[in-house]
Amino acid sequence: MISIKDQKFLLKLILLIVYLDCAKCTTGCISNKQLYREIGCKPIFENDSNSCPVAYDCENVFTRSSDKCYLNGNVYEPKANISKLDSALSLCVSGCFCDQKTNDKKTTTAFACTYDVCRSRMSLIAEPCYYKFDKNLCCETELYCPKENATIHECVYDGKTYRNGQQFKIQNDYLCVCSPEFNGTANDKLCRQFKCNYELLYMKNILNLDAPLYFEEKDGCPINWYQSEYESDFGTVEVSAGTVNSSNHVCKYGNLSVPIGQELKIDRLSIRNSESDSYKTICTCDTPPLITCITGRKDIINGKFNMHII
Ligand SMILES: *[C@@H]1O[C@H](CO)[C@@H](O)[C@H](O)[C@H]1NC(C)=O
Ligand SMILES: *[C@@H]1O[C@H](CO)[C@@H](O)[C@H](O)[C@H]1NC(C)=O
Ligand SMILES: *[C@@H]1O[C@H](CO)[C@@H](O)[C@H](O)[C@H]1NC(C)=O
Ligand SMILES: *[C@@H]1O[C@H](CO)[C@@H](O)[C@H](O)[C@H]1NC(C)=O
Ligand SMILES: *[C@@H]1O[C@H](CO)[C@@H](O)[C@H](O)[C@H]1NC(C)=O
Ligand SMILES: *[C@@H]1O[C@H](CO)[C@@H](O)[C@H](O)[C@H]1NC(C)=O
Repeated sequence: MISIKDQKFLLKLILLIVYLDCAKCTTGCISNKQLYREIGCKPIFENDSNSCPVAYDCENVFTRSSDKCYLNGNVYEPKANISKLDSALSLCVSGCFCDQKTNDKKTTTAFACTYDVCRSRMSLIAEPCYYKFDKNLCCETELYCPKENATIHECVYDGKTYRNGQQFKIQNDYLCVCSPEFNGTANDKLCRQFKCNYELLYMKNILNLDAPLYFEEKDGCPINWYQSEYESDFGTVEVSAGTVNSSNHVCKYGNLSVPIGQELKIDRLSIRNSESDSYKTICTCDTPPLITCITGRKDIINGKFNMHII
C-alpha cells in the first residue's frame, strides 16, 4: 500500500516531470511552426515520441526546381497567374503570378503579388463604431455604427471580448468572425485556417536560409527577415559557442551552421540591442532547419519564453 503522503509526493513528482519535460519542449513546439506547416516540411520526432518536433525535414522544399513556383502542392511555370482556387486560399494578396527575374546573372523564380489595402488597417475609428468582417474576405465588409443602447452579441475568447462581426485569431491556427454561433471553439462556418502566405511571399528568404524575425512570439507571421546573403555587409555573424556536434539537427543561416540551443550573433543586432534597455532582439536555433529571431520588450520575451535576455 502507498500512503496518502507518498501518493501526494508521487503526484507532485509526476507533475514536476511533466512540467520539466514541457519546459524543455515548448520552443520546439512553436518555433517557426506556422512557417514549416505552410511550406510543407515534415516534423521530426526524437525517438518516435509524439511530443514536440526536434526539427523539421524540409528536403522536399529545398530540392524543388529553381525555375518554377510552388503553391499548395501546385506547380506554376514562369509568368503563370495563380489559379482561382489557390487565390481563394490566400487572403490579403492579389494578382499573384510566378515571376522570373535575372539580376547580376542570377535568375530567381518566385511569386510576385500585390498586398490588398484595407481601410480597417489604416484608419482608427471612434466608438461605438467598428469594422465587420467576412471569414472569406481580407478586408472589412462594413463600418458598423450601432444605435445607442443596441444589444450586440459578444464573443469571448482567451479573455478578450469581440463584438458580432469582429475578427479574432485562435492561436496561430484560425481566423474567426464573431457570431452568436461561436461556442468557444473554431468551426468551419465561422473560421478559416490562418495563413501568412509563406509560399507566396517568403520563398526567396526560406531558400536563401535567412532568419525570420517575429514580434514577441516565435511563430506566426514574420515582421522581417535577417538576410544571410547581405548580413555580412553589416558586420560579423557568428555562432555563440563553437561545437556543432551537439545534435544531428542544426539550423542553417546561409552557409553558417548553428546547433540547437545556440545563439546566432549578428553584429547589427548587438548594436541595436545596446541602444535600448527595454527592447531586445535575439536569434537562436530552436527548431531546425531555420533560425528563429524574436524582437520586442525584454520583460515580455523573458516571461513568455523563460529566456534571460539582459
Ligand atoms: C533517444 O534514444 C537514444 C538511444 O536509444 C538515447 O541515447 C537518447 O537519450 C534518447 N533521447 C531522448 C530524448 O529520449
Ligand atoms: C494574368 O492576369 C493578368 C490580369 O489579372 C492578365 O493581364 C494576364 O494576361 C494574365 N496572364 C496570363 C499568363 O494568363
Ligand atoms: C439608452 O439607455 C439610457 C439608460 O439606460 C436611457 O437614458 C436612454 O434614453 C436610452 N437611449 C435610447 C435612444 O433609447
Ligand atoms: C461547438 O460546436 C461544434 C460544432 O459546431 C461542436 O463540434 C463542439 O463540440 C462544440 N463545442 C462546445 C464546447 O460546445
Ligand atoms: C563534441 O565532440 C567532442 C569531440 O568530438 C566532444 O568532446 C564533445 O563532448 C562533443 N560535444 C557535445 C555537446 O556533444
Ligand atoms: C559564407 O559566406 C560568406 C559570404 O557569402 C563568405 O564570406 C564565407 O567565407 C562563407 N563561409 C563559409 C564557411 O563558407
